[in-house]
Amino acid sequence: MNVLGIETSCDETSVAVVQNGRQVLSNTTISSLSEHKRYGGIIPEIASRRQLECIYPVLEQSLAKAQLKLNDIDAVAVTTSPGLIGSLLVGTSFARGLSYSLQKTLIKVNHIHAHLYANFLTGPNQNNQKLPSLPAVGLVVSGGHTSLYYLKDFYRFKLLGATLDDAAGEAFDKTARILDLGYPGGPAIDRLAKTGYNNSIHFNPAKLPGTYNFSFSGVKTAVLYHHQKHQKDLDYSVEKVAFSFQDSIVRILVEKSIRACLKHKVKTLVVGGGVAANSRLREELLKEGKEQGLTVYFPAMEYCLDNAAMIAGLGFHELKK
Ligand code: KG4
Ligand code: ZN
Repeated sequence: MNVLGIETSCDETSVAVVQNGRQVLSNTTISSLSEHKRYGGIIPEIASRRQLECIYPVLEQSLAKAQLKLNDIDAVAVTTSPGLIGSLLVGTSFARGLSYSLQKTLIKVNHIHAHLYANFLTGPNQNNQKLPSLPAVGLVVSGGHTSLYYLKDFYRFKLLGATLDDAAGEAFDKTARILDLGYPGGPAIDRLAKTGYNNSIHFNPAKLPGTYNFSFSGVKTAVLYHHQKHQKDLDYSVEKVAFSFQDSIVRILVEKSIRACLKHKVKTLVVGGGVAANSRLREELLKEGKEQGLTVYFPAMEYCLDNAAMIAGLGFHELKK
């Protein structure tokens, strides 16, 4: 069964075809990110206008890549929430039109759940040959969300905890802005931190003990005060600040994710969202996971960021339900 997926929740316009919920036949994505850079964040109005311009060409490209025609599609899956309302409106209206004209079922998909589902895809660029087993704990770390879930199956995503303020990616983006590293901040901080290892600067996110909740806005403020106080010091190193900031975020994400796995007696941890691309997070989760006898899965880079393959994949299971 071929499910066509449509993802337009933020700045990416993405259309994919996924067979039987697993095999990615095509996943075509265009991003308007470069147009937002000079504003230091996504401008919803620009994002939705670009979605409108891109959606049809992206559909055509995706079908061509899958070597399929619209008539070969069995169902249409679309992100309905969460996301920027103008951007979502483009994708959902387009999907409704398609499903109506093709007389095929329309499936609503939750974007955050789909980020975790990205670990269950197989395809030309997906490196997970061995699929994760369920039940699992899922950590979603993106620009808009930071949540921990207990996944019994693809129909039940039980929320264990979430951020009370900034999302992890948002903290990376805001901190990068303080350090004048441009937007998006995650990749820039990740790159700089590689040469900034140190034990001298410490930022401590709120621990919120006894919960699986997170709070990252204090770390960002701590970086701001540190930067204002020390930026003119002769030995000031932005690499060291980037390292310490990243380390503090990674430590708390690793600690809570591993604790959730042990508490719920699961052997599998699946990670999703843009921050899952972070090299230190990958390294530390794999290391800690191994020590605790857990298998940790990350999607291939292409499926960490927003993409329609994860929407089509999870849509297949929604359809079966
Ligand atoms: O999942 P995503 O594409 O969009 C949302 O659904 O939010 O995630 C984008 C976020 C941005 O905040 C970006 O800074 C962050 O992912 N990101 C990273 C890295 N690559 C992207 N954060 C840390 N390290 C990275 N290597
Ligand atoms: Zn996302």
